[in-house]
Amino acid sequence: MATAAAIGSLEPGRYSRVAILLHWVIAALILVNLYLGLFHEDMSKPVRATMMFYHKAIGLTVLALTLLRLAWRLAHRPPPYDAALKGWEVGVARATHWTFYALLIALPLTGWLLVSTGGKPISWFGLFDIPALPVSHADGPHDAFDTLHGLFGYAMLLLVLLHVAGAIRHQLRGHRQVFGRMAPWRVR
Ligand code: HEM
Ligand code: HEM
Repeated sequence: MATAAAIGSLEPGRYSRVAILLHWVIAALILVNLYLGLFHEDMSKPVRATMMFYHKAIGLTVLALTLLRLAWRLAHRPPPYDAALKGWEVGVARATHWTFYALLIALPLTGWLLVSTGGKPISWFGLFDIPALPVSHADGPHDAFDTLHGLFGYAMLLLVLLHVAGAIRHQLRGHRQVFGRMAPWRVR
């Protein structure tokens, strides 16, 4: 049987250090990008351009980190769930998590496709350029990617709310170990 050390865990009942680090870095980037995506239209033109400059670079960073995270996740089994949790609770948690992974790829990918219909490369924080994907420059694909990107963005927002509500619900019911699985610090 795999020991906690062998699967890269800090201790039994917790995700590995790498999984915890990637969870919180990606979560922070997603929250910033939801803000930038949802509110850029209310700003003046130069502010909007700056917001989108960072939105695109952050989004592509999320895509790269998610691929790394998925590879890590598939190679490292997460800690088993507390026996106090009901079967349906574990089912909802698992479904939420895999939907997250799907969105963490589909959301930045549709953003990248959307911008690629303009044909220009994307600057990564002014350090280097990421090429446009080979897609048609016609209006049809642009509008389709735009619609999908918006839909996935709202789906992500909903899922984050559901996920955080789930974490708070467990905390209120005294299941401290649920938050403890992903907390950056040790929860007793
Ligand atoms: C904002 C964007 C967020 C995203 C995209 C996200 C995504 C995820 C994913 C994919 C997992 C499953 C990990 C795995 O099994 O591989 C997870 C677990 C977890 N997340 Fe988040 N999360 C976010 C924010 C948060 C926040 C704000 C909290 C705290 C309130 C939180 C608390 C947790 C906890 C406690 C777990 C472990 C739960 C369990 O093992 O069932 N997450 N998260
Ligand atoms: C992974 C993180 C990302 C999140 C959470 C996210 C979220 C959003 C949201 C919520 C919107 C507003 C949608 C609407 O109001 O209909 C938006 C717009 C936009 N996003 Fe993203 N996005 C991400 C990644 C990307 C990437 C990687 C790119 C391009 C490289 C991108 C390009 C755009 C563009 C150009 C818009 C404006 C669309 C318009 O004004 O019609 N996004 N994003």
